[in-house]
Amino acid sequence: MNKRTVTLLEGDGIGPEICDSVVRVFEAAGVPIQWERAFAGLAAIEATGNGVPPETLESIKRSGVALKGPTTTPIAGGHKSVNVTIRKALELYANVRLAKSMPAIETRFSNVNILIVRENIEDTYAGIEHFQTANVAQCLKLITRQGSEAVIRYTFEVARKLGRKRVTCVHKANIHKITDGLWLQVFREVAAEYPEITSDDIIVDNCCMQLVARPEQFDLLVLPNLYGDVVSDLCAGIVGGLGVAPGGNIGKTCAVFEAVHGSAPDIAGKGLANPTAILISSIQMLQHMGYIGHAEAIERAMTSALASGVKTRDLGGTATTTEYTDAIIANIVPVTNAEPVPSGAAADAKPLSTSSMKNWECVGVDVFVQHDGLPTMPNNIGPFTLRLMSNRGTKVWPGTTPDIFMVDHFRCRYVAEAPITRHDALALLTELTTQNVQWLHTELLWNDAQEAKYTKAQGE
Ligand code: NAI
Repeated sequence: MNKRTVTLLEGDGIGPEICDSVVRVFEAAGVPIQWERAFAGLAAIEATGNGVPPETLESIKRSGVALKGPTTTPIAGGHKSVNVTIRKALELYANVRLAKSMPAIETRFSNVNILIVRENIEDTYAGIEHFQTANVAQCLKLITRQGSEAVIRYTFEVARKLGRKRVTCVHKANIHKITDGLWLQVFREVAAEYPEITSDDIIVDNCCMQLVARPEQFDLLVLPNLYGDVVSDLCAGIVGGLGVAPGGNIGKTCAVFEAVHGSAPDIAGKGLANPTAILISSIQMLQHMGYIGHAEAIERAMTSALASGVKTRDLGGTATTTEYTDAIIANIVPVTNAEPVPSGAAADAKPLSTSSMKNWECVGVDVFVQHDGLPTMPNNIGPFTLRLMSNRGTKVWPGTTPDIFMVDHFRCRYVAEAPITRHDALALLTELTTQNVQWLHTELLWNDAQEAKYTKAQGE
């Protein structure tokens, strides 16, 4: 059988010890891969001044798959996090975490097996934040059709490959009608292409409540970035905490798997590190590569070792990293001649058509204005009429001003009877500037349907 190459980044602290455990277990299981070692983290910084040298990225691009030990992020010195650098450089758009009950790890629940797929690039994590006034900060939540489709399609492909039966879309589309509404709409469009897999959706707050009450009901969750960040840690807590949580970051052409925990400098080199999380990450990696048989063999061996009471100190046992690894190896039934299951067809799938703006018409402008107390805004400017003003999302004009706490940041909605142009919008801003209005930024409002949705989305 041809051996595939996998890039191995041992990382810092306990990284080399736990990676060594994976290397030994893979050898014992007869996994048909060869490792290509590359640097990342402190050692790379010392040698090259760069936490992720270009050769490391080249190696991952060549092999398409990497296993990464934890890396220490120096607090001073301005070094960027290795993880963030790798994620951005390789455009790893999906984060996959498995939350599965394990013997020897006592928790309230015993039958949990949830795969959590989180969008990894967009949402509020695009990091587009601005102070609007000295008292008001704003963050943009970006959800795109293409970004959503990539991660949702990947989720259904994983479901297909691993034989998972149900995919649940997590959202808050009842409030974020446009952004999460788009996420949910794309989910429904993609789900229609996988009729053999049950698909449903749940609002994120209800999802959290259900997870702590009856986690065993969920199979595969797919979430936008922010909810995914929170819910994946919640799921890790349900099955025993971050110390045993595995993860993978998936891109179009590369994937990087690693444990969720850090480099544990306090126990590095002492033989106390628990390699369970990185071993489960490596099992996820084997599944990703199609080596389902090897993944199962290693998981069974690890489960048997834990069930027989061999566990590291952090789990209440006395075994060293080496003793625990030996116990896993002793339980391995080597897999011979297991050809990889071909990877999913995601790359060949026809992408959903993107929406065109051909028929969109601009019908107004939201102008955001800095003012202490309710401003007196001109009612009519050119083709525009002032429709409403709101403060922190609550309508404060027209009609009786509600008795609410107001900040110095007002949204003033100007709409026109007929479609307007950008020249009209500029003329509106010029006139407001002439009248000494302290405007901050603007948003164009597109066509009637969009404007109606936009208005509803603000709870008005
Ligand atoms: P940490 O996860 O390294 O350690 C927290 C506690 O958990 C420590 O007491 C440690 O001994 C214990 N621990 C962690 N993993 C363990 C394992 N496999 N077996 C036994 N005990 C384990 O978190 P901390 O101390 O906040 O971070 C240390 C360094 O790791 C920092 O430089 C941080 O930036 C980095 N880090 C790297 C990550 C990555 O590369 N994926 C993720 C999180 C942190």
